[in-house]
Amino acid sequence: MAAITEKLKFPKSKGAAARWKLSLFLTLFFSLWFLLFFLFRQVHAPSEITETIALTRRLSTVTDPVATCDGRASVYVYELPSKFNSDLINDCHHLNVYTDMCPHVAHRGLGQHVDPVFGPGHWHATHQFIGEMIFHARLERHPCRTSDPAEASIFYVPFYGGLYASSKFREKDLRERDKLAVELAEYLQGLPWWQRHGGRDHFLALGRTAWDFMRVRNKGPDFGANVLLDLPAVLNMSVLTVERQPWSGTNQFGVPYPSYFHPSTLDQMLAWQDKVRRSERPHLFSFIGGPRKGLEKAAVRDELIRQCEESSRCMLVKCISGDRQCHNPVGILRVMMGSRFCLQAPGDSFTRRSTFDSMLAGCIPVFFSQHTAYTQYAWFLPKDPDEYSVFMETKDGLTSPRGKIEDVLSSIPEETVARLRNNMIDLIPRLTYAHPNATGLGFKDAVDVAIQQLARHVRSELSFHLQSK
Ligand SMILES: *[C@@H]1O[C@H](CO)[C@@H](O)[C@H](O)[C@H]1NC(C)=O
Ligand SMILES: *[C@@H]1O[C@H](CO)[C@@H](O)[C@H](O)[C@H]1NC(C)=O
Repeated sequence: MAAITEKLKFPKSKGAAARWKLSLFLTLFFSLWFLLFFLFRQVHAPSEITETIALTRRLSTVTDPVATCDGRASVYVYELPSKFNSDLINDCHHLNVYTDMCPHVAHRGLGQHVDPVFGPGHWHATHQFIGEMIFHARLERHPCRTSDPAEASIFYVPFYGGLYASSKFREKDLRERDKLAVELAEYLQGLPWWQRHGGRDHFLALGRTAWDFMRVRNKGPDFGANVLLDLPAVLNMSVLTVERQPWSGTNQFGVPYPSYFHPSTLDQMLAWQDKVRRSERPHLFSFIGGPRKGLEKAAVRDELIRQCEESSRCMLVKCISGDRQCHNPVGILRVMMGSRFCLQAPGDSFTRRSTFDSMLAGCIPVFFSQHTAYTQYAWFLPKDPDEYSVFMETKDGLTSPRGKIEDVLSSIPEETVARLRNNMIDLIPRLTYAHPNATGLGFKDAVDVAIQQLARHVRSELSFHLQSK
């Protein structure tokens, strides 16, 4: 420092004076640049909420297919022994004690074709708990897939854990019920790329709710769960699931339930969004669902059904178990496309596939529990629930919504309704599972968003564990 002041004060020769001017100029020039850069960043640092909204707005217009893989989310897809996935599919008659899953596992999990009455794109009667198969099919052909594990930032373990779980719900022998989950954990721990980071960069995608895999941590009556998510190896991994356990599921990340629309191009997506935006909505609200006997968190359903029955502005589709109309995608979407608000009450668990059907149909969801969406799908939905949904407090926590639903919903100003609906329609691309054979999709679907967010999470997780070593 002293030498520099020396020079500044006493330029001794012509050469020294010129060098002095040059260095003064350079110093000023770069200082100015830094100053401008800093100011610019301050002014333009967006708040997280506006960023989310801007992001969702842009989603429907992203056209660069390469942008769906930002180069940092390269995924390695394991080839597992067939007992962990394809053997289960081959045994599809015995995957679920209530339903024959064979029609549902067809077309890599998309299920049976539905006539494309709503316009271009692939429409299927997709089963609510089949997301794990769709994930697998899509990642196999994903632009971010790498065949070189040394290049991968995340490692996908394509275990069809949900199908396995439902095939064993009635298994009384707990060792037998847990067998394949335990074998998976053993298998993984023997893999060289597992050992590098103790599995912290590995992930599962499960088509059923976390509750079905947490028998140890979730004390209570036995409803058939296994212990997959309680195993130490799996606790090191990230787990994508349609419903996370909101309190202890810290390595669980909610992903959308699959709905019926599986577009393969941006044009198909834009055509659908346009249709939904212009759809006439004669019903103020609707409820599609059935009562649940003896389930405390579903008690609100009885009240919703009663209020809907009493209101001339509500469309009720009451589902009794096995009801055909409640499994008909075209009928369900028509009701939702004709409604402004769709009531989403908890059922057997907090979340509902119906939430994603209603958003696909541009019907604003009305929630009665924080855990139906807000604590679940942070990667996919704006932080601020008021941007895309309505929340109704329930009196004494459970039974009846405060006030009449019709009064509450009809008092929401027209501009607010339009704003909520537009924001929600902008979210459709990222809540959708694109057709697995799509190439150059042109927008980010649920799988794109999930692997990008996951890669980000794994990066910070690994740097945390390296630091704490
Ligand atoms: C994807 O394409 C292959 C042939 O390229 C076809 O056999 C397969 O059925 C397609 N997948 C789906 C889900 O339609
Ligand atoms: C879990 O990760 C830690 C490192 O973070 C590692 O020491 C441990 O062995 C891993 N557990 C299993 C079962 O691989």
